[in-house]
Order: sequence, then structure tokens, then C-alpha cells
Amino acid sequence: MNQHTPGDRKFRTSMLEANDGPGHNPTDNRTMGDIIAKRFSRRSFLQGSLAVSAIAATVSPIAILLADDARAATASAFAFDEIEAGIDDKHHVAQGYDADILLRWGDPIFADAPEFDPANQSAEAQAKQFGYNNDYVGYIALEGSAEHGLLVVNHEYTNDHLMFPGIVKIVEGKIDVTPADQKRVDIEMAAHGGSVVEIRKDAGKWQVVRDGKLNRRITSTTEMELTGPAAGHDRLKTNADATGTKVFGTLNNCAGGVTPWGTYIMAEENFHGYFGGELPADHPEAANYKRLGVPEGTYEWLKFYDRFDVSKEPNEPNRFGWIVEVDVQDPNSVPKKRTALGRFKHEGAESIVAADGRVVFYLGDDERFDYVYKFVTAGKFNPDDRAANLDLLDEGTLYVAKFAEDGSFVWLPLVQGEGPLTADNGFASQADVVIEARRAGDLLGATKMDRPEDIQPNAVNGKVYVMLTNNSKRKADQVDAANPRAENAFGHIIELIEEGGDFTATRGKWEVLLKCGDPSVAEVGASFSTSTTDNGWFGMPDNCAVDSAGRLWVATDGNSPKATGRTDGLWAVDTEGDARATSKLFFRVPVGAEMCGPLFAPDDQTAFVAVQHPGDGGEDWEGFGRPSYYEDLSTRWPDFKPNMPVRPAVVAITKQGGGKIAV
Ligand code: FEO
Ligand code: CA
Ligand code: CA
Ligand code: CA
Repeated sequence: MNQHTPGDRKFRTSMLEANDGPGHNPTDNRTMGDIIAKRFSRRSFLQGSLAVSAIAATVSPIAILLADDARAATASAFAFDEIEAGIDDKHHVAQGYDADILLRWGDPIFADAPEFDPANQSAEAQAKQFGYNNDYVGYIALEGSAEHGLLVVNHEYTNDHLMFPGIVKIVEGKIDVTPADQKRVDIEMAAHGGSVVEIRKDAGKWQVVRDGKLNRRITSTTEMELTGPAAGHDRLKTNADATGTKVFGTLNNCAGGVTPWGTYIMAEENFHGYFGGELPADHPEAANYKRLGVPEGTYEWLKFYDRFDVSKEPNEPNRFGWIVEVDVQDPNSVPKKRTALGRFKHEGAESIVAADGRVVFYLGDDERFDYVYKFVTAGKFNPDDRAANLDLLDEGTLYVAKFAEDGSFVWLPLVQGEGPLTADNGFASQADVVIEARRAGDLLGATKMDRPEDIQPNAVNGKVYVMLTNNSKRKADQVDAANPRAENAFGHIIELIEEGGDFTATRGKWEVLLKCGDPSVAEVGASFSTSTTDNGWFGMPDNCAVDSAGRLWVATDGNSPKATGRTDGLWAVDTEGDARATSKLFFRVPVGAEMCGPLFAPDDQTAFVAVQHPGDGGEDWEGFGRPSYYEDLSTRWPDFKPNMPVRPAVVAITKQGGGKIAV
């Protein structure tokens, strides 16, 4: 995630609150906070709830002793000794594990790529090197191997003040970045997108295959095709593309997915930040763009490229905010923007094959008060014919979730002509529905969530985990009695159980797995199990993974000295049995960073994690205490060399001597 502060074009940092634009959902649809509040208050009245017992345990010394007994008696599914939560300039991993740097920003990924030279970077060099701010990490096996495959990695955004020498002045104690020239913009554009990199495990250690034939960089200028119901629609046509089917590049690729047929999914999240200028008065896209916060004007690309200026190319923003599919088996394939999956601030797209062979993609729209979606393909997955699956994402049904206080939910179809999705309401075709998926969800009465991030189906137990990272903007003047987690600073995780265990079902049951934050502060209302130690709790769940044993791992975005007294990291979260809602810290990032990935190799012997925007911040850490930028960094992770800036990097975690992680 990131970062953007409206109107602040020069300083992009995740220190500023994540996705804290003004909040664009104008409806009276009910929030998840409303519904959880009602549900918890009813259950605690009737039978006592997990939340209430957790709070009670933290305020009574006797209860803490009892909790120690419970800890001894509770069987966690994870075997490792958790590390101490805290903050410094390094990463830390559980004892008995190695955390090896695999791919850093600037690492050459082609035989002819130049070595990284941060003082003399160019767009041409960057386009052949690993990009910036690694986020989603996926693994696509080559010949079925768990030790030889393609690592696919998103590069979400860029932090100029950490990337470029000589552009920062400190003014009144704050970072001031000089306006960008075209060279800098071109480097930024080449540092966005994604990487496909062949990797191989030799003698227990992962290596990059630099001359891998399938290695590829995808950037903000890579040619892409729009497919599905919106392809070719007038609302997607621009001066450069009269067909409405051809787009250059992908933006702000946050989380993603790997499909069952082995393609790479890149989700376009905060695309609004790249657009500036003013839409012509009374333009028909005005309401559409307002709902998405377009244009925000965080980046300066429009100074050099008219397509990012909505006064010149008013339809260009309709060509972003999609799910992008990349066929990694052909390094020259044209990535496809699959419009059937709707247009919003896509966090990711994790999928699972349902019992009948259709494929279900779970989709979060990461903004305060926005929605949870899923897409069910019309066609069935054919495991014996890869080519037959390649256009499955062009036909199917997009649904949005509505949650009820009785623990049920329904998936409401976003289908033109059904319910309110008619021409009278501006939905003349399915193209209009997918282009304005948010507004369609508004009319259907979808539930307003606290920033839906990664959503992960679990093939072992049939459940689906929804990370809801926080909603800091529910300020005091927006509080009502039904929202106990107003200013929901720490987020929560909910669990979905689709009816009959069928992922294509249109209804099911939901449950809160965790309410996050420090359980020793009763006012926070966190609901970790009493077996969770002071190192084990966390705030701001963001990305997550389920390993092949069906165990849940949660990565966080936004823990800091000020927010939680700890950095972000990777936590192992029990979901079943007596240990349910117990969390343990496995890995933590250096100061200023966010934890992305995570991903388990198919044999569970490697956990890949992405350390995003390390060194972005440090003011609130007593070990640094001032703004961090290229010349004066709070950490020089991972190289720790005076001539090397801090570098986002993917880390491969393996058990010393081999074996499955946390077993
Ligand atoms: Fe890119 Fe929703 O975090
Ligand atoms: Ca994130
Ligand atoms: Ca996030
Ligand atoms: Ca995930």
C-alpha cells in the first residue's frame, strides 16, 4: 500500500496514513463496524465473547497467570520460538532460520542488464533491473518443481526521496523534494510494474538465474490489451487509442495472485495518484472519478506525458484500476487487463478452483468504506490443457459482499439489468457496470468495510480470510454509538465460510477471527487469544498467505514505534482449535519498512517475504529521530554500505539444515 497525501505531490511516504484520501463512498450503506458492534454486543450479552474474555484477562493479574497455564496447554499449529517485537535498522527471523536476500531494487535480471549504480541510474538500466517497492510475490513452478520456478513480483510505487541523490532539502525539519525532471519520471515509470525472474535452489540456497529465458520486466509503459465486457467501449477510448483496447502500462500494482493455470495477476490499486489536471466542466466521467478520488495528482508524470492529465485525456483513468493477467510462459505476451473483474482500487486476486471446476477470485477494494468482491468464472478450469484456460477471466460473474448481524452474508451479483443496475441509473451495459463497479456496489447496498486488503481462500479447511487493515478516518465527529472501533486504528480479520463449502456459493457465514491491536489495553478492544504474548500481537493486517498445511500467515503495514512500538512483520496466526486467535512473531522488518509478500514455496520449505519501502521514516524511532532520505537514512538495509542507499528486497527464509517452515 502506500501513502498518498492529497495535494502533496512532492513527498510520497507510507509514514503518512495509508490510503487516507478523503474517503469516497458517499452512501448510507452500513459499515462492517456497525455490524460487528451489533454482533459482539449481542453475543457478549448472551454467552460472553472472545473479545470480552481477552480484555478481562489483560486487566487482571490472576487472569494473566491463568493465561500462562492456557499457553502451556494450548497446541499451536506452529513450531518455532517467536522473536521479540521491537524496532531497529535490521531484519530479524526466528532462531534456527536463515533470511537471505534474494532480489534487491536495481539487481540486474537479464544477462545484458547493467549493474546497479544508484548515483547514475537511468530508465534504460532500470527497465532491465528489479523494480522498486516489491509487494506481491508469487511462485510459478517450472516443470512442477518446488526448487526451480519463476518468482513474480509486483513493484507498487516509488519513493523519490529514498531513490535519488541530491533532490532533498530539509525545510523546517521536513523533507522537501525538488520538482522532477523527465529523466527522474522515466526512471520512476521503469521502476513500477512487475518482474518475472527465474530462480533455482542450489544446495539449499535460492539463486537468481540472471539469463533466464522467461525473465521479464513489466513497467508503466508496457503495451497491454483491454479484454472482457468493457473492451472497446467509448469510455475507454483516447487520442492515442481509438479502439479502446490498447493501453500502455500498469500502475500501483499492490498484491496479486497466480492463477491455477500458472499466469501472473497484478492488481492495480491506487491509480488515482498518477493523474492530475482538471476534468472539463460537466464531463460525464465526473461522478465516476469523484468516487475513486481521480485525479489526486501525487505524481508528476503528467508534466511530461499528456495521458496522465485528465484535462487532455479525460478517459485515460478508465483504463486503470483493473486486474492484469500476464502469461509468463511467453516473455513477449501482451498482458491483458481483464475488465470482467471490475474496476476499483484492487488489492489482490487470490483464487481457488471450486468443486465444479469453476474458478473463484477474491478481490478487495482497499479504501476506507469500500467493498469485498469475488469473481466466479463462467468456464471451468481444465488442468490438462493450459491454453484452454487462458481467457477464463473474460467471462463470469462479479459479486459484492453484504454482511448481516446474524453472522450470514450474501454475494450480490453486479449484472447489468438486474436490480438497480439499469440504464436509468447510468448502467446501459455491463461495460458501465464494471467501469463503475463501486457505484454498482453502492446501489446494491454492499457493506462498507475498513479497507479490504488481501483475501485468501484456504484449500485445506475451505475458509476464506479477509484482511481489513484499519480505518483511521472514522474520526470522533463521525462516531456513532454503533461503532466501538471508531478510529479503527489496528484493523481486524474476518473469516468467511461459503455455504456448503462451495466457493461459488452466493451466501455463507462470517466470523471475526481477530480484532487487532494491543490486547493489554482494554480500550483497544483487541481479541487475540490469551496465549498471545506481548510480542505476538500486531496491528494493520495487510497481505497474508496460507501454507499447504492450511496455516495462516499475516503480514502487516503500519506498525511503528508510535503506533504499536514495533515494526511490521510476519505473524503466524492459529485459526483452529483451542489455539485459535493465537499469534506469534516469525520475522520483522527494518525501520520504516512494510511487510509484503508473503508466499510459501509449494513444499513449505521457503517463505518468501518482500520488504517494502525500508528506511521510509525513522522520526519516531529513538535510534534515529529525524527525517530519513537518500543522504541521511534511518537504515542502509540490506547492503549496509555507505555508497548504497536502502533497497527494497525480497527475502527467502529457510530452515537451517532444511525442512518445512514452523514444523
Ligand atoms: Fe497497496 Fe492496499 O496496500
Ligand atoms: Ca501493502
Ligand atoms: Ca496496506
Ligand atoms: Ca496473499
